[in-house]
Amino acid sequence: MAIKYLKDLTLKGKRVMIRADFNVPYDGDMNITDDTRIRETIPTIQYCVEHQAAIIVVSHLGRPKGKYVPEMSLKPVSKRLSELMKREILFIEEEVGDAAAAALKSLKPGEVALMENIRFCAGEEKNDPELGKALASLADVFVNDAFAAAHRGHSSNDAITHYVKECAAGFLLENEIEYFKKAMDKPKRPLCAVIGGAKVSTKIDAMKNILTKVDYLLIGGGMAFTFLKAKGLPVGKSLLEEDLLDTAREIMAEAELKKVKLLLPVDTVAAQEFENDSPSSVVPVDEHPESMIGLDIGPETIKIFTQAITECKTVIWNGPLGAFEMPNFARGTLEVGRAIAASGAMSIIGGGDSVAAVNQAGLADKMSYISTGGGAFLELLEGKKLPAIVALDK
Ligand code: 3PG
Repeated sequence: MAIKYLKDLTLKGKRVMIRADFNVPYDGDMNITDDTRIRETIPTIQYCVEHQAAIIVVSHLGRPKGKYVPEMSLKPVSKRLSELMKREILFIEEEVGDAAAAALKSLKPGEVALMENIRFCAGEEKNDPELGKALASLADVFVNDAFAAAHRGHSSNDAITHYVKECAAGFLLENEIEYFKKAMDKPKRPLCAVIGGAKVSTKIDAMKNILTKVDYLLIGGGMAFTFLKAKGLPVGKSLLEEDLLDTAREIMAEAELKKVKLLLPVDTVAAQEFENDSPSSVVPVDEHPESMIGLDIGPETIKIFTQAITECKTVIWNGPLGAFEMPNFARGTLEVGRAIAASGAMSIIGGGDSVAAVNQAGLADKMSYISTGGGAFLELLEGKKLPAIVALDK
């Protein structure tokens, strides 16, 4: 890849457009409930400020489908960015157009503006070249720092790169690319992937790709029951994707062929109902009662998974090992998180739920890298090239 990074650019006196992913959650009153993605982009913006560029930040929020939706305005983000950076942020109510251009013209070196939600423009998600051109006309340099949106090829992260003079990846995107490369392309071995989550269907491609790289594949979460069933074990009322039993068998056969140690739960915490207070008990996987739902990995599985993780030098984790949103079934996910943190391995965590679990357990600063991407991280695991990263590769 021949991607330029922010440090390769001369910024002084230039107009820099930064594509950020400020797709942050709002509560019903438009209060930001998690500002991680804003915080993570600040080093890039700050660097441009310090290098005397005039900065225009562009982002999407939600899926407004090309129309103005007041609840998806970036105004609260502008306010939070201003608080976090302790500086004034000029909020441009119009995304592109004459008024925006005029407002941005007055921007001086070291000043920062944030444009309204770019997905209010009908062309954005269509990767409309005209919108790309219009955005490019506002800047000398384009810096993409929106890893979480890099699996989308849209006007503000793809088309724009064809018209602007110079493009580069910001610090956040650079970190995402470099850590992922370190983990998947040149890992310190043994390399372990811990894959969880509810459904096999969402992770098939990732697991198939991962099998070509890892030494260990640890499978937990709801998806593990399809694998257990494929091995002829009883799963009671647990989540099951009947149509993927053959796929699960193929994955297990492929693991054997490639000498990957694929580990499945040996015991689970099963409950009568999908409810936190439902009576539960630990059951070995070959004795799973007909009437019960498996909601977490059991203590013996935690021990085996912990042992495997301890032997590894690199660990990638995507997806919770149980229904961790319910405190009574969170132990497996939290313990595996603790094992990764304590292992001393280079650890990369991706996907909203596993990141939430890491934060809940207070382990964030013990992990080597926490990805800001959900869908984008998964597509990297699938071995796909992300359109916005390809677009930077000139
Ligand atoms: C995300 O949160 O995964 C990104 O911001 C992309 O959002 P999207 O799925 O609406 O394209």
